[in-house]
Amino acid sequence: MTQDELKRLAAQAALRYVVEDAVIGVGSGSTVNHFIDLLAPLKNRIAGAVAASVASAERLRRHGIRVLDLNQVDELPVYVDGADEVTEHLAMIKGGGGALTHEKILAEVAKQFVCICDESKLVPVLGKYPLPIEVIPMARSYVAREMAKRGAHPVLRDGFKTDNGHVVLDCHGLTILDPPKMESEINDIPGVVTNGIFARRPADVLLLAMPSGVRTLRRQRPGTTRA
Ligand code: 5RP
Repeated sequence: MTQDELKRLAAQAALRYVVEDAVIGVGSGSTVNHFIDLLAPLKNRIAGAVAASVASAERLRRHGIRVLDLNQVDELPVYVDGADEVTEHLAMIKGGGGALTHEKILAEVAKQFVCICDESKLVPVLGKYPLPIEVIPMARSYVAREMAKRGAHPVLRDGFKTDNGHVVLDCHGLTILDPPKMESEINDIPGVVTNGIFARRPADVLLLAMPSGVRTLRRQRPGTTRA
């Protein structure tokens, strides 16, 4: 099976998490594009969607799915999105497509975050995939120096602006041993809008596609034990 076929398999598995008559949160990227295409036949069974990127919103609209602004929505029972890396604790690096800030907002608002990935995204430790950081343009060099002090090799994403008009620094060479701590530390640097570590609000469910089928991993909530 190709990687793209695995992405579609993961997307297909996410359909059973769609809540009837509710608004669904939709992330961005090629795996999510499959999800949007597979969601289209169910469009009359949902109230609409909130999208993390302009590209996802356009794709949803092309399928005739109603796109709402997050400010029009009181609750988001489910948010479906991909990841660039994910651990078995369901912490992630996201933002390969540059939509990390909107994705983090939707993840935070959603009751349940369903992450859809092909098996290549599962890693023991985050950091091999360059960590994206969305930065206010005037702080670009300062944030890059701060990240270099933390052992990273930041590279400005060439010719790229986020949907918010900001730049992205892709930080190579990090080994992220304590993802929630690093997520908070980087977000505290003035000029950082957000960074692509999703650990303080990890996924609740990971649907990991492999040639033998889709494996479901669930986040262990604090105070619970694995059955
Ligand atoms: C975009 C993201 C995507 O979820 C991530 O880059 C994965 O993309 P793909 O599904 O194309 O592999 O975080 O900002």
